[in-house]
Amino acid sequence: MKICVVGAGYVGLATGVMFGKLGHDVICADIDEARVRMVNSGKSPFYEPSLEKELGKLVKSGKLRATTDALQAAVDSVFVFICVQTPSLPSGRINMTPVKSAVRTISKALRRSDDFKVVVMKSTVVPSTTDSVVKPILESSSGKLAGTGFGLCMNPEFLQEGSALKDSMEPSRIVVGSMDKRSGDMLMRLYSKIKTDKIRTDLRTAEMIKYASNSFLATKISYANEIANMCVRFGIDSDTVLVAAGKDPRIGPLFLTPGLGYGGSCLPKDVKALRDKARQEGYSSKLLSALVGINEHQPVEAIWLLEREVGSIRGMRVAVLGLSFKGGVDDIRETRAVSLITSLLSKGARVVAYDPMAMPNFIKVMPTVEYASSAAECLAGADACIVQADWSDFRKLGRKEFSKMKSPVVVDGRRCLDPKKVKASGAKYLGIGYGYGPV
Ligand SMILES: NC(=O)c1ccc[n+]([C@@H]2O[C@H](COP(=O)([O-])OP(=O)(O)OC[C@H]3O[C@@H](n4cnc5c(N)ncnc54)[C@H](O)[C@@H]3O)[C@@H](O)[C@H]2O)c1
Repeated sequence: MKICVVGAGYVGLATGVMFGKLGHDVICADIDEARVRMVNSGKSPFYEPSLEKELGKLVKSGKLRATTDALQAAVDSVFVFICVQTPSLPSGRINMTPVKSAVRTISKALRRSDDFKVVVMKSTVVPSTTDSVVKPILESSSGKLAGTGFGLCMNPEFLQEGSALKDSMEPSRIVVGSMDKRSGDMLMRLYSKIKTDKIRTDLRTAEMIKYASNSFLATKISYANEIANMCVRFGIDSDTVLVAAGKDPRIGPLFLTPGLGYGGSCLPKDVKALRDKARQEGYSSKLLSALVGINEHQPVEAIWLLEREVGSIRGMRVAVLGLSFKGGVDDIRETRAVSLITSLLSKGARVVAYDPMAMPNFIKVMPTVEYASSAAECLAGADACIVQADWSDFRKLGRKEFSKMKSPVVVDGRRCLDPKKVKASGAKYLGIGYGYGPV
């Protein structure tokens, strides 16, 4: 089957590589020429090691290529997946400009073609968008009707960065929302080799499933953060509490680690977009507003813990370890590092920062911060350190590195270090949910 994927980002490339591995011919279309060149040379434009390995093989075998000509790519394909970004506007509403632009190009391809193509919306959009924004553009510019002239589906994506390809190849579920039975059946057949639960719905139910899922994940993280913030004031280690709570199958252990808050390209914007959509329909979601508030507080919580230990941080040199929104990725979208560093600077601290992969991206956002070329260099001479992202490398830090700090105070903003190991290395260990009371 010929498949066109519009938008060669995390979702588009993972989708393209997944279909390539299933034996289909894939063409990824992107407006970014540098990105297209990278993909055609078998390289991933972002840090996602397992994806890059498979991408290289598919490009070499001719099963996957990239182009800037989305129109021709769509003309040549039976399925056209829309995987462009849907970032937040200041109001929280999603910016539909990239989606609309991609849809206009696809509608020209529909006009030019005689075959029945299925347009599949994979970008995350609020309920009713595929029906009320995407469909009218496709119909008016192509001169064809959805359902008879072309098919229209909504197929939300649930992958996590860091395991993008694995999540695409082994998804927890596949949701196929369709306007018409024919295109839904076609998309179900395309996914037939992937064995998982498949849920068929209409378009807007499929859109809402994505938001319901991400709101729940944000709720779990925020719940863990609230419990941790209380535990630290009660002199209790929140890890013991949350691990025990997570043993209850009704709660579950995942996404229960407290920290500096959720970031990345999905949870922050999806929570705000759903809240905005609900408001438009006259419903004010107290839960979603609480999630936004809790998440904004968490970097402040880490600084509060530090100040309780050392007093004023004015003039102090604070090492920030990890700048990506989580360990294992170089994506800095909505990273909590920005608000953490901004708050540290506003309190008069001097910040030195390090990340194993995300520094080139982060320097563009905060060019005036001092950067170190290793975690050890970042810690050397620092008065305190805050771990902002859970890179596995940071777990290896020990006496050798902490002893080079001016005063070894470590605030574990992701609860990713072993408190015993840090303490054994002679450093003071504090963490979200740990350290203020007698733990
Ligand atoms: N990143 C994730 O973990 C993830 C997970 C699930 C769902 N999603 C959703 O999937 C969508 C895509 O996210 P992403 O992280 O892959 O985005 P991304 O920013 O990594 O990639 C988007 C790509 O689309 C390209 N693009 C923009 N407009 C285009 C156009 N008109 N024609 C061709 N290419 C165009 C951009 O150049 C970019 O390469 C978003 O709606 C996001 O919310 C993301």
